[in-house]
Amino acid sequence: MCGIVGYIGDRQATPFLLDGLTKLEYRGYDSAGIAVFDGKDIRIEKTVGRLSTLKEKIKNDLPPGSLGIGHTRWATHGRPSDRNAHPHSDCSGNFIVVHNGIIENYLPLKEKLIERGHEFKSETDTEVVAHLLEEIHGKLERSKSDSPDLFLAAVREVLKTIEGSYSLVFMSKLFPHEIICAKQDNPLVIGLGEGENFIASDIPAIVSETRKTFILKDGEIAIVQKNSVEIQDRNGDRIDKKIFYVNWNSAAAEKGGYEHFMLKEINEQPKAIKDTMRGFIKQIRPARGTPAPERIAQDDSAIIFPELKWNPEFLDNIDKIYIIACGTAYHAGLVGKFYIERLARVLVEVDLASEFRYRDPIVDEKTLTIFISQSGETSDTLAAMKESKRLGAKTLAITNVIGSSLAREADQVLYTMAGPEIAVASTKAYTTQLILMFMLALYMSQLRQTLSADRTRELISLLRKLPAQISETLSDVEPIKTFAEKYGFNEDVFYLGRSLDYDVALEGALKLKEISYIHAEAYAAGELKHGTLALIVEGIPVIALATQKSVYEKTISNIKEVKARDAVVIGIASDGDEELEKYVDHVIHVPETDELLSPLLAVVPLQLLAYYAAITRGCDVDKPRNLAKSVTVE
Ligand code: F6R
Repeated sequence: MCGIVGYIGDRQATPFLLDGLTKLEYRGYDSAGIAVFDGKDIRIEKTVGRLSTLKEKIKNDLPPGSLGIGHTRWATHGRPSDRNAHPHSDCSGNFIVVHNGIIENYLPLKEKLIERGHEFKSETDTEVVAHLLEEIHGKLERSKSDSPDLFLAAVREVLKTIEGSYSLVFMSKLFPHEIICAKQDNPLVIGLGEGENFIASDIPAIVSETRKTFILKDGEIAIVQKNSVEIQDRNGDRIDKKIFYVNWNSAAAEKGGYEHFMLKEINEQPKAIKDTMRGFIKQIRPARGTPAPERIAQDDSAIIFPELKWNPEFLDNIDKIYIIACGTAYHAGLVGKFYIERLARVLVEVDLASEFRYRDPIVDEKTLTIFISQSGETSDTLAAMKESKRLGAKTLAITNVIGSSLAREADQVLYTMAGPEIAVASTKAYTTQLILMFMLALYMSQLRQTLSADRTRELISLLRKLPAQISETLSDVEPIKTFAEKYGFNEDVFYLGRSLDYDVALEGALKLKEISYIHAEAYAAGELKHGTLALIVEGIPVIALATQKSVYEKTISNIKEVKARDAVVIGIASDGDEELEKYVDHVIHVPETDELLSPLLAVVPLQLLAYYAAITRGCDVDKPRNLAKSVTVE
């Protein structure tokens, strides 16, 4: 998983390439590079390390030229190093390529290329593509091919030879009037300008330049010139592509005064969940159209999903649901299971996407499979969706990225309206996923008549209060900061909870691990005494969630068990709970709501705790080590 950019026009390419890569650094940040054509030659500048290292290296000597491509890498084949950084070139230096994905058959191709005299400079799978292009172009030239565009013809042949997943962007000093792009299983967007065009893996890289885009689909090739963009299929047939207008602005993808994207995104949660309940992003309601329909009936009597085109009978008749996802999205799925089972009375199983398709799941035409993914590009989630379709299940994607691979592949899509999430650690995507799962459960309960009208109305009115309640939780971070400073240097932390509090504990522990590198484990509180209690020793921090009223007394018993071993316990309680403080060392209160909705409030202090612990330890919050935002490899 990597970030790609490209520019062709009259301006200097380098400033756009560097700026675009900065916006894509969430996709990978172990090395970076650019290639720019100066009218005679192509200059490649690349280096291991963050983009800032590359910027520093070239700051007094920016490569000049109006045609260029760039890349920020997250290593898959070949360790992070200068020579493995992209762009890569062939032996002659005529053909340059950047790549996101994996070329699965690169080894046999590489061996044959070496036999034919090609010399490789890197250990990457990508470099074979440049050499193949050189070789195929040479053959076409020698055979006096009558193709009007030898560059394009050669790229097309390369694509027939390679196997795997990729977005590939090619430039050549022999063909300096165009950049050629190909997409398979990895995202690629073309930004349409006036007398200039842009290429990127994701919209934030180009949105400050243009709102008009082509979002490439698998199998499509884009021929990007200064004044035109042509999209073709693999056979060379022209595709009449619709322009996709981006409906959020560049400020939405910037830090907006916060020190880190993660903190900004935590603070954006009230708005993000409001937008998700509504079904569109306020302020940037799609232009040129009738007002977007809302997802909640004005009188709070029902959830409406105008975008769900299923026959309601199908949702009424399903007998099993799988929720499939990875990481934080999987944790949202666990809460989703609880919601659907409790409110709509359908059996739900939650699977890790990386496990689902290897376990021969029992799927039939009465099965619904729901896939949750912020990016909509997670490789395991996509593969699980393909498998589930093959087995005959109906698929529903819950994703944040409009037009993402998951959204396109699914039978139906519900979008979370979180806006761009840039920090690697997911925060507002998680809470908006919870909102959508809750609304879906209510929607299904309406069809299945499993809930009274009064209870539906009560839950919807509580749902509407959440944005203000999250804002309240966010308004007093000082105690959380203090705990983070006090306990941030412990090497182990435990999270406990029962019922939905346990699901939130899992997410809290993941947040702490990934950005502060503290070893954190979440346990269903009742499970402690079955083994883990042995690890509880004097002074060890335990975060105990106690917002679930139905299991409150049981949770208190478990808290007493860890307190008896002299753990330091920080409790998370609902407002009005004056009991918990008797048994713990510190309490963080969150506003009172129905216990079904409390995960949306209880997770906020855990996100903040992880954030401030990472700050205390001097970690790179937005770009934790070894991780990337979008995991497009299995
Ligand atoms: C953790 C985190 C990851 C993602 C996971 C799935 O903070 O962000 O665990 O949740 O990689 O990503 P998506 O939701 O894009 O499929």
